[in-house]
Amino acid sequence: MKLAIGSDHAGFELKEYLKQILLSKGYDLTDVGTYDKSSVDYPDFGFKVAHLVSSKLADKGILVCGTGIGMSVVANKVKSVRAALAFDIYTAIQSRKHLDANILVLGGRVTGQGLAEEIVNAWLNTPFESGRHEKRIEKIAQFETEYLK
Ligand code: RB5
Repeated sequence: MKLAIGSDHAGFELKEYLKQILLSKGYDLTDVGTYDKSSVDYPDFGFKVAHLVSSKLADKGILVCGTGIGMSVVANKVKSVRAALAFDIYTAIQSRKHLDANILVLGGRVTGQGLAEEIVNAWLNTPFESGRHEKRIEKIAQFETEYLK
């Protein structure tokens, strides 16, 4: 599976932590930055990961900022992205089962490393349930086709 990961300065430490784990598990991982703790703007990195996922150059993405809110807003602006901000394992799993979420967003100032690792593992290993959820996602795609360029 091809993964893209990105963060701002507030998510940098958690991004680095998750990156090492994902690499050790053999994921094909693209890190779009940021690459240190200097202050940066989360949209610059959120859009990079979202575009990689939207263009199918990555299968899934992971984004981290301080709260996760900024990255969620950014990623969900991009066509065909369904970004889920998760602070717990249940939400992460549901975002895969029911929404086929293709980007997971975490708050580096909210969620500790151990929990974040478990959230990521659960999210990456949960398939989409399809069925009745398919037509709901289709409605989102329909809106994108009709109203977004
Ligand atoms: C950066 O200070 C912070 O505003 C950002 O990481 C994020 O939390 C925004 O949602």
